[in-house]
Amino acid sequence: MARVIAFFNQKGGTAKTTSTLNVAAALAEQRQRVLAIDMDPQASLTMATGVDIAQLEVSVYDLLLEDDLDLASTVVPTSIPGVELVPSHPDLAAAELELLNVLERERQLEHRLEHGDLSRWDYVLIDAPPALNVLSINILVAADELVIPIEPHPLSLMVLRRLFETIARVRRLNPDLRVHGFLPTKVHHSSRLAADMLSTLAEEFPQYTLLPVVPLSVKGAESAAERTSILQYMPRSAIAEAYRDVGAWLAGHDPHLATSSPEVSAHV
Ligand SMILES: Nc1ncnc2c1ncn2[C@@H]1O[C@H](COP(=O)(O)OP(=O)(O)O)[C@@H](O)[C@H]1O
Ligand SMILES: [Mg+2]
Repeated sequence: MARVIAFFNQKGGTAKTTSTLNVAAALAEQRQRVLAIDMDPQASLTMATGVDIAQLEVSVYDLLLEDDLDLASTVVPTSIPGVELVPSHPDLAAAELELLNVLERERQLEHRLEHGDLSRWDYVLIDAPPALNVLSINILVAADELVIPIEPHPLSLMVLRRLFETIARVRRLNPDLRVHGFLPTKVHHSSRLAADMLSTLAEEFPQYTLLPVVPLSVKGAESAAERTSILQYMPRSAIAEAYRDVGAWLAGHDPHLATSSPEVSAHV
C-alpha cells in the first residue's frame, strides 16, 4: 500500500513545493513509483513538473468536488521519470467556498484516496498550500505522515504553535497521523539564523526529528524554471544530494515497518 506523505507548513516559501518535487524525484530514482498531488491553487508543483495547465481537462479541483470522478482519471505524466501527478488548477482557489456545502468536507481527499487504487504507487506525496484552510485540513486528514519544511526566517518558529494546534485538532479525524519532524530548507552553512533555528527546534521540539538539512542554493529555482527536478537539472549538486538523503531518510522510516527508529512514533 502506498505511503501518503504530506509536506506541510502554513507559511509560504518554506520549500514545500521544492521538497515535494525533489523528494519525488529522489524516490523515483530508487525505482519507487511516486504519485505527487498538487493541493495548492498556485499550481507551482504542476508547472514545475512540466504540466501545461491550459491543456488540463480535470484537476485536483474536480477530484475534490465531483463525487463520481475517480483518482486514476485525474493522473497525468510529468517531466520526471517515475513520477505521476494529480495536477492543480487556479480554480482550486474556489474549492474552499464550494466545499462549505459538501457533507464531510474535510474528508474529501481522504475518500478519493481510499477509493482510488493506490497499489499503483509506492508513495503519494502531497504538496500543501501556504494556508490553514479547508484544503489544508483535507491534507491533514488524508495523510499518513507529515514532514514540516521550515526555512531559517524570523517567522518560522512563530507559526509552529498554530500548526501544532491545528494538527492536534485534526487528530480526531485522523488519529494515526505520524508527524516525522522538520525538514530544514534553504540553510546557509554559515548563517547564524539557521544555526539558531536548528538548535531552537531541537530544544523546543525534542519529540520531533530533524530530517537531513537542505542547503541554500539557486539551483532549486533554476530547475523549477526549467520545469524539472534538481536531481535531473544538476544531479551532482549539494542540493540534489540533500534531497536524495531526505528520500533515503523517508524510505528508512516507514511507520509500518517495525524496524523504523523509535523517534518516528512521536505524536503531537
Ligand atoms: N534550497 C533552496 N535554496 C534556495 N532557494 C530555494 C531552496 N528551496 C526553495 N527555494 C526557493 O524558495 C522559494 C519558495 O520555495 P517553494 O518550494 O515554492 O516554497 P513553498 O511551496 O513552501 O511556498 C522558491 O522561489 C524556490 O525556488
Ligand atoms: Mg508551494
